[in-house]
Amino acid sequence: MTRDTQLNRRHLLTGAAAAGAAGATFASTAAADQDGSAGLASLSGKVALVTGAARGIGLAISKAYAAAGASVVMLDLADPEAVPAVDGFRIANAEEFEAAYQAVRNVTPNVLKVTADVRSPSQLDEAVAQAESRFGGLDIVVANAGYVRWHGFADGTEMDWKSVYDINLHGVFNTFKAAIPALRRRGGGRLISLSSIGGRQGVPGNGAYTSSKWAVIGLTKQAAIELGPDHITANAIAPGPVDTPMYRSVAQRRSMGVETIEQQDAMIAPLLPLGDKPVMDPADIADAALFLAGPGGGAISGAVIDSAFGYNAFYTG
Ligand SMILES: NC(=O)c1ccc[n+]([C@@H]2O[C@H](COP(=O)([O-])OP(=O)(O)OC[C@H]3O[C@@H](n4cnc5c(N)ncnc54)[C@H](O)[C@@H]3O)[C@@H](O)[C@H]2O)c1
Repeated sequence: MTRDTQLNRRHLLTGAAAAGAAGATFASTAAADQDGSAGLASLSGKVALVTGAARGIGLAISKAYAAAGASVVMLDLADPEAVPAVDGFRIANAEEFEAAYQAVRNVTPNVLKVTADVRSPSQLDEAVAQAESRFGGLDIVVANAGYVRWHGFADGTEMDWKSVYDINLHGVFNTFKAAIPALRRRGGGRLISLSSIGGRQGVPGNGAYTSSKWAVIGLTKQAAIELGPDHITANAIAPGPVDTPMYRSVAQRRSMGVETIEQQDAMIAPLLPLGDKPVMDPADIADAALFLAGPGGGAISGAVIDSAFGYNAFYTG
C-alpha cells in the first residue's frame, strides 16, 4: 500500500470515527473494535499535550490527534536564542510554531498553542493547568521535544552533555511529572516518550544523544510500573531516520561521514528493509503515537515501539 493510500485510508477511518463516536470513551471504542471495526482510532473527547509541536514529528502527531478528534495542546519553546545552535541546526522559531498551530487549527478549532520550555518544571505545570482549564482535563501526553549536539565522545564538553540531557531526559521527566496529577484526575491516561533507534544501540558521533535516548526508555519503563495501578500506560517510540530538520542537518550528515542528502540516503537505505524510500515521513511516527494513544493501545505499557521501517530488526532480540 502506498503512503498516500495509507493516509487516505486513515483519514477515512478517523473521520468516520470522529463523526460517529463523539464523546466515546476508550472502553466504548475498544468494544467497537471487538465488533469488527478494528483500526478505528477515535480520540474523540480526549485531550492531548504534545511537546516540541512546532515542526517535524511533534507537528505530525498534533495533526494526527486532531484528525482523530482530540483537543490538542501544542507546546514548543520556539526560541532559537534559548538553545545553542549546532552547525546551522537550531530549534524551531516563532514563525514555524505559528504556522504549525494554524495547520492544526485547520483540522480542529480545539487547539491551544503554549510557548514553554520543557526544561522548566513550573512552565510544564502551567501548561497542564492551561490544558485543564481550556479543555476540562488531560488524557494523553507526548514528550517529543528533543535536541542533539553532534560530537565524538572524547571531544564532548560539559555544555554539550548537559544541554542535551536537560532537554532530552529532564524534559521528558518534567513533562510526565507535571501531567501525572491531571491524568489521575481523569482516572487514567497515556504517557508517550520519543526515544530513537539511537536509544536501542550504540551510535557514534552524536554525543550525549544516544545515552539520553536510552535513558528515556528507562524512565518510561519506571513510569509504566509505578503508574499502572492508576490506569496510566507509559510507552516509548523509537523512530528510525525521519525527514525533519534534525535528521537532515549538516551536522547529522557529518556524523554519518557523508556530505549530501543523496549520500545520506544511499547509506541508510540498505538498512531499512521495509521502506520503499530512504527516510521516514513524520506521519509514519504519528501513526505509532496514534495507536498508543487510542483504544488499541490500552493493554500496552512499558513497551518500546520501534517505528523504523524494520531497521530495528538488525538489533532487537
Ligand atoms: N528526526 C529523526 O530522524 C528522529 C529519529 C529518532 C528520534 N527522533 C526524536 O523525535 C523527536 C522529534 O524530533 P524531530 O526530528 O521532529 O526534531 P525537530 O528538531 O524537527 O523538532 C523538535 C522540536 O522540539 C522543540 N524543542 C527543542 N527544545 C525544546 C525545549 N527546551 N522546550 C520545548 N520545545 C523544544 C523544537 O523547537 C522543535 O520544534 C525528538 O525527541 C528526536 O530526538 C527524531
